[in-house]
Amino acid sequence: MTYRAVVITISDKGSTGERVDTSGPGLRSMLNKTYDVTEVVVIPDETELIAETIRDQVDRKGVDLVVTTGGTGVGPRDVTPEATRMVMEKDLPGFSEIMRMESYRITPFALISRAVCGIRRQSIIVNLPGSPKAAAECLSFIEAALPHALEKLKGDPSECAR
Ligand code: MTE
Repeated sequence: MTYRAVVITISDKGSTGERVDTSGPGLRSMLNKTYDVTEVVVIPDETELIAETIRDQVDRKGVDLVVTTGGTGVGPRDVTPEATRMVMEKDLPGFSEIMRMESYRITPFALISRAVCGIRRQSIIVNLPGSPKAAAECLSFIEAALPHALEKLKGDPSECAR
């Protein structure tokens, strides 16, 4: 079965058209190989709006994978991790740990991303940094484990050993 994914670009400038969102479409084409990408949504860095957009995608639209890009840093408007924590029911620390660890081999600035990953209902939420390069790199570090994580999350009882 093909899982459904949504990309949420979180950017004040992207949401007003002041900056063209290239991270969202870039992630869409990466994810398209494995997922049915239903939408690329662009919203501003507003905590409650981010939380509500994730809730809407998971609870009402039933997407399996929510990928956000942007707002993970330390800027005054960066609130994506806080909004994600408001809606996630379980933490998936391994995903964010490997993103920061592998990214650190590329740039020490990797440590600045506060991205979190977690579970809401039977869906996975993944925060990625905002630049197209950073977002693609971080997705590449976790993409191999995502389908199996989704299978297990949805109750696949089979043994994991391969
Ligand atoms: N991770 C990777 N793999 N590659 C990068 O270039 N850039 C970093 C970091 N993570 C980067 C990365 C930088 S410069 C910042 S400021 C933080 O992500 C936060 O980015 P955000 O606020 O756009 O989410």
